[in-house]
Amino acid sequence: MKSDAVVRRRDLVLPTRSGLVRLPLGQSKDKAMLETLRKMKGGVWRGVFPHQLAFVLDLPGRGVLLSPTTLVKRLPLHPGCRALEIGAGSGHYSIAVGTKCRRLMLLDLQPEMLRKARARKPVTSQINGVAANASMLPFRTGSFDLVYMVTVFGEVSQQGEMLAEIRRVLAPGGVLSISEHLPDIDFAAFSSVRRLVERHGFELHRREGRPWSYTANFSKTLSGLPTITPSAR
Ligand SMILES: C[S@@+](CC[C@H](N)C(=O)[O-])C[C@H]1O[C@@H](n2cnc3c(N)ncnc32)[C@H](O)[C@@H]1O
Repeated sequence: MKSDAVVRRRDLVLPTRSGLVRLPLGQSKDKAMLETLRKMKGGVWRGVFPHQLAFVLDLPGRGVLLSPTTLVKRLPLHPGCRALEIGAGSGHYSIAVGTKCRRLMLLDLQPEMLRKARARKPVTSQINGVAANASMLPFRTGSFDLVYMVTVFGEVSQQGEMLAEIRRVLAPGGVLSISEHLPDIDFAAFSSVRRLVERHGFELHRREGRPWSYTANFSKTLSGLPTITPSAR
């Protein structure tokens, strides 16, 4: 019989901006991810992910964490869908998503990232890009059915402003999808993301994945922003 001490040794506790995240070790399909984690523990960067390191976003092992195919399955995509990807980076997920919707707009702070995304093949005419800050979206009210982001939420400095802007540009019934995975040093744990997002006029619709690699889909509430009591701020 395994003792508690053995079980604890097989866990890895990783400090992130949103608290400690415990990763259970020992499941074979997690091995590649855990090896990467061990090497990166302690992290070498924080904040906006530098475009010079964009190649890291395309490392083959990333598929173990969240592959474009898995993301596509988790998003509410349909042929008429107008989607916005916030913090698209070098476009690791953009082609897979863009081919499943009518229009996909890529947005990133760094124009260098968008240039890399544009260089991806196949280039499709329904995918366009704009360099802007997610806290001031250059789009009309109600112009998207889906806004999604992957390993971006924890990196954004003005999260409240970003959420208000996302709510504005989403059409009624629109969905905000947030995916986070380790070993991103800015990883945001699901519980803290949910708390903040729900305070900005969204409700959780569906969550998939595991604590260290999840996708959470939120619907825009119809009734406007919830009343926030002082203690909940
Ligand atoms: C870790 S990368 C992830 C890129 C891509 N989503 C992926 O998963 O491969 C985060 C990206 O978010 C962008 N970003 C960070 N803060 C942003 C903001 N406030 N507005 C727009 N983009 C932002 C960064 O420039 C960077 O390209």
